[in-house]
Amino acid sequence: MLELSQSDRVFVLTGAGISAESGIPTFRGVGGLWRNYRIEEVASPNAWHRDPALVWEFYSMRRRVAAEANPNPAHLALATLERQLGNRLFLCTQNVDNLHERAGSRRVAHMHGELFKSRCDTCQRPPFSDHLLYQPPTPVPRCQCGGRVRPHICWFGEVPFEMDTIFQVLQHCTIFVAIGTSGVVEPAASFVALVGQKARTIYVGPEEPANRSAFAERYLEKAGEILPHLFPLEGKPD
Ligand code: OAD
Repeated sequence: MLELSQSDRVFVLTGAGISAESGIPTFRGVGGLWRNYRIEEVASPNAWHRDPALVWEFYSMRRRVAAEANPNPAHLALATLERQLGNRLFLCTQNVDNLHERAGSRRVAHMHGELFKSRCDTCQRPPFSDHLLYQPPTPVPRCQCGGRVRPHICWFGEVPFEMDTIFQVLQHCTIFVAIGTSGVVEPAASFVALVGQKARTIYVGPEEPANRSAFAERYLEKAGEILPHLFPLEGKPD
């Protein structure tokens, strides 16, 4: 178990692995999404220009899977930790599902966007909540301005969200914990190296990540099994 002091500031980075035990497929590895879909056909600005209907088919499928999933003990443990640490915990996720929020986490930085939000690809209308499925025969939705409505997702070749805040918080954390991320996708893969020697660095997940050498401690276990015991949580997660 990690002992936390009053002065600790904890940065948690989560990846697809934290939602694996909830039944949401990861991207790489056996059964991973990128084994069955080509990134350049469904998750890039070029894909959107070439075939927006195919892109929406992919994200509609992911909306359906995520809507049927429930938070697991790892999401619940992080929500409990937030209630204890308040703003001394910063939760940054590469995941676009909403399982952290549904577990009770209030402040989540979704650096790769949010599956249940959409935005216009043309005008500046802010992203809006959207749980609908757009797959044949439903056409690609249109904005009032005439532009197309796209998923509020950071595609390959686009800039992730909230990076200014994320880099600022990384500078001041004393504990950095990455959970369920393969450590191959930038910029998240380099967060641990940015933190460097200044903080205690911990990885949680059943397999070694690609950036393993940057972590001082590694717990090679499933997130749902270890997280409820990793932090000194007062009371049980609800
Ligand atoms: P990956 O699919 O690359 O890696 C998932 C990681 O989760 C692997 O290292 C697994 O070992 C681990 N894992 C599997 N089951 C687990 C469990 N029960 N508990 C903990 N860990 C487990 O997913 P990410 O690293 O999140 O980006 O991928 C990063 C980005 O690549 C995604 O956000 C997505 C993708 O392309 C975009 O779509 C922009």
